[in-house]
Order: sequence, then structure tokens, then C-alpha cells
Amino acid sequence: MPEFIAATSRGLIDVLSDEISSLGLNVINKTSAGVTFESNWEGCYRANLELRTATRVLKPVLDFPAYQPDELYHNIRKHDFTKYIDVGQTIAVDANVRESGFRDQRFVAMKVKDAIVDQFRDAFDGKRPDVDTDNPALRVAVRVVKNQVNVAIDTSGDSLSQRGYRTEAGEAPLREHLAAGLLALSGWSQNVTIIDPMCGSGTILIEAALRARKIAPGSFRKKFAFQNFRGFQREAWDRVVTETLSAEIEKANVHFYGFDKYSRMVRVAMNNAQRAGVEDDITFAASAIDVLTPPPGAEPGILIVNPPYGERLGITEELKDVYRDLAFSLKRNFKGWTCWILSGNEELTGALKLKASRRMPVFNGPIECRFLEYKINA
Ligand SMILES: C[S@@+](CC[C@H](N)C(=O)[O-])C[C@H]1O[C@@H](n2cnc3c(N)ncnc32)[C@H](O)[C@@H]1O
Repeated sequence: MPEFIAATSRGLIDVLSDEISSLGLNVINKTSAGVTFESNWEGCYRANLELRTATRVLKPVLDFPAYQPDELYHNIRKHDFTKYIDVGQTIAVDANVRESGFRDQRFVAMKVKDAIVDQFRDAFDGKRPDVDTDNPALRVAVRVVKNQVNVAIDTSGDSLSQRGYRTEAGEAPLREHLAAGLLALSGWSQNVTIIDPMCGSGTILIEAALRARKIAPGSFRKKFAFQNFRGFQREAWDRVVTETLSAEIEKANVHFYGFDKYSRMVRVAMNNAQRAGVEDDITFAASAIDVLTPPPGAEPGILIVNPPYGERLGITEELKDVYRDLAFSLKRNFKGWTCWILSGNEELTGALKLKASRRMPVFNGPIECRFLEYKINA
């Protein structure tokens, strides 16, 4: 049975592994680089279409030690890359090189590209595929750590995080797979109301509504890389799409609420929700956090919030007031609710003067954050 690796951000490996298992796929290993599972290609198609917390799905093809450029070149040629695409299609090689004797990533990428291109030349009368780094038909991912070389075929193409509904955003939007990951880490059950009091472009709530409606995160995409491959099994793909579409439900069991201080952001969030087809499940309105109250009739549920934290937005001193306002509002108006905060700045979370009941490390891009749970006593 072939093996695949689903990649994600650090901090989300366990939730991704659970998601893969819940698709009925067999997880065989978890590492910091991702979750390895075994499956036929139909399972790979399903993983690409349905995984909410993965950024891409890779098919590992080679794993070997190499100390010299020639060794790298000859080992690459041991796998037949000509079976994936026609010679008239395009390729790209991405290299990630750490603690190795090779000169740099670009050198490794070039050597691997040369080996693959020469394979095509030999097989197709001197003809070779062109390189297209933006939109190749076949993207090959090479990872070299201490001269151990891992080579994988990218089955996804653009990052799975880029669902396609968020064509407008604010200043520091959460990547969609991370928003889905926070929902999973919070243990949110789909009958519980969620409020995002600083919703920005609405990512957390849109991801929650998609999950509640069983709408596959990949259903907005025009294309996955595996569709370019010569062995693409159209019938299996059609079956996966049909099954996924038939699982969708018309309305979520619960309603979602998003607020932001700026009405411009509220409009952006509404437009994104509309593009995702979940606008009826979410109410967005402008409100600053210090005056926010629970929506009339809403049972206590959870707040999930990604406040500005200074690395990318604003200045720490000014932001302390925002955190103080958030804590004030929670204690005064949200008794009985649970609040989850993603923060990349301890000084700011300190300004809350609340005691976290749980703390989980999560990376937002390169920024090491904490996802913190606060139970607001009734
Ligand atoms: C880091 S962004 C949230 C990004 C969002 N999770 C997304 O994916 O687009 C923080 C948001 O908090 C909002 N904000 C800042 N101060 C606020 C306040 N006092 N009350 C409510 N919203 C506020 C900003 O307008 C911004 O949209």
C-alpha cells in the first residue's frame, strides 16, 4: 500500500493525525514534519479534499544518504519521474536543506532538477519539461537534513490552506488550516455556539461553519496537483467528490457570531462567508470588545479569539489596553463561557490578569504562540 505524508504547522500534528484516522485512513507515523498514512490513491484524493488541518499531502518516493553532488544526481535517477507527467508539462523542485555539506538549497534544487530533466531527455528523444516555479504540473519537494535526502511528490499543488473563499483579508489573517486547527484543539463540539469577538476576515467562524455543515475545505479549489498526473484515476476522484458533496448539510446546528471594532473588517468577513456559502450560519456586526455582550438568547458557549499581538500588528504598549478590555468584557459579560485566546506575546496575555486553565504551543507561521483556555466563572 502506498504511503503519503500530510504536512501541517507545528502544534497541529495530533489533531491532523486524528482527522486522518477519522477519514478511515491508516496513520502509521507522526513526526515534526507531518503525519504518515498508508492508503491507495483514492485515499490521497480524499485527504486533499477533506483534511481541514493539513497544508499539503506529499507522496514520498526516495530516501537516501548523499554527500557529493554526483551521489545526489544518481540517486534521484533511481526513481522514474517520467511516469507522472508528459514531457510537454512543467516541473519545479523545492529544496529545504539543513545542517548538510551541500552548498545551499538552490544548488540542491538545481542538481535534482537536472537529474529529473535528464531522465526525460533520455526517454523522449532529447525533449525535456520546462521549469515553472509558480504553477508546475509536477512539484518535487526535497528535504536534506544532515546529508539524508528525502524526496517527495507534491500531490496538492497550492497549499491546502488556501481554500479560495478568502479573497479579501485584514492585516494579519490566520491561515485557514490553523483556524481549523484551533477549533479542533479547543475540543469544540458542533452543538456549541462560537463567538469570535475580533474576527478580522472571519476565518475562524467560516472554518467552524464549514465543519458544522460538513462542507469539504477543498471544495472551492479549481485544481489539485494529482489531477495533472498521468495515472490520475478520474473515476475514483469523481466518487470521492460525489460522496463528499452528498454528506453536506443545509444548515449548521448552531449559530456563529463575529465582531470587529472596524466595520470595514465586518464587511470583509461577510463577503468571505458569502463566498464560502455559509453566510446564513454567521452573524457579523461591528463592536469594540469593551462593550461586547453575548447575543440575545445565546446559551453560554465558547469565544475563540486571535487578538492583535504586536509581531505583525500594532505596538505592545498600546495593545495592552486591548487585552485589558478583553479581560474586562469576559469577566463582566461572559460568565459561564470558555474563552480560547491565540497569542504570540506573553507580555500581552499577562495584561489579561486571568489564569489559563490550559496552554498549548502552536506556530502561526514562524511565530511561536500559545493557545490558552480561560474558564470564565459563572
Ligand atoms: C489578528 S486580527 C484577527 C484576524 C482574524 N483571525 C482573521 O483570520 O482574519 C485582530 C483583529 O482584532 C480587531 N480589533 C483590534 N482591536 C479591537 C477591539 N478593541 N475590539 C474589537 N476588535 C478589535 C482588528 O480590527 C483585527 O481585525
